[in-house]
Amino acid sequence: MARILVTSPLPDGAFDPLAGHELTTAEPGQSLTTEEIAEASRDIDAIVCQLKDKISEAVFTAAPRLKVVATVSVGYDNVDVGAATRAGVAVCHTPGVLDDTVADLAFALILSASRLLSESERDLRAGGWTGARFDGYLGRDVHGATLGLVGYGRVARAVARRAEGFSMRVLHHARRPTGFEGAVSELDDLLAMADVVSLHVPLTDDTRHLIDARRIGLMKPTAVLVNTSRGPVVDEEALAAALESGRLFAAGLDVYENEPAVPPRLVAAPRTVLLPHVGSATFATRLAMARLATTGAAEVLAGRRPPNTVNPEVLDN
Ligand code: GLV
Repeated sequence: MARILVTSPLPDGAFDPLAGHELTTAEPGQSLTTEEIAEASRDIDAIVCQLKDKISEAVFTAAPRLKVVATVSVGYDNVDVGAATRAGVAVCHTPGVLDDTVADLAFALILSASRLLSESERDLRAGGWTGARFDGYLGRDVHGATLGLVGYGRVARAVARRAEGFSMRVLHHARRPTGFEGAVSELDDLLAMADVVSLHVPLTDDTRHLIDARRIGLMKPTAVLVNTSRGPVVDEEALAAALESGRLFAAGLDVYENEPAVPPRLVAAPRTVLLPHVGSATFATRLAMARLATTGAAEVLAGRRPPNTVNPEVLDN
């Protein structure tokens, strides 16, 4: 029987794969700091954590028994994978179970930002609607527009499938050649061609502020930017400035540079849809993610090599 720290409550059924192990679960609503996680991990064999938990080197140093960290997220920039690997700790995540759910949300943002849904609804709720106006709340058509996908992993391809149903022209740019139709080798060219740009890259040193003031300047002034990947991929100040000046038509964001902080300038910016990081937030998908993470932890504890391991080399012996 292993000891497992679960940093946030998970849905019913999520813990079935860990039956027989001793679980310590944080209270609902409790957010643990990295130091608290390190302190709580001293005699722990596995951690099941979430995106908001920063699992840094200090945790691995404090936890000599630790064998696996399973993050209930597909992105794993919250875990210092280099430090985990040096400590011989496996890192598991949740690929493959949230692609369609996140793609649904990306498409919702494409539609709502292009058609100014948040702005017009806010006005109506505030009593500011004075009747249908021929020239009021004019948006941009999504059907027939060119969609530029930055990154072409599973979520981006799921967005592409939805875009085809809307008769969009779909282009993509990825770091490595994809061999698929619609590939644009230079990101700058893709940005200049697209009516809607949707971001689907992981957060790495290479993608931090990938969309900066210069690149926003390459986009059409009529274009819409959608981000369901990671906040730091976009320079928020540059984006807010472009929206304020009308240099960019609209933006739909689900992620932010310093979550849960959202810069007041972005909150005040026009033609902007802002969601609280809900890309994968459906009952079914959150349960699937939780079960995939706990299955990964259980497999590592049983001496196996689960396919959702980011650094399988630590399990090689
Ligand atoms: C959410 O952002 C995830 O990485 O699962």
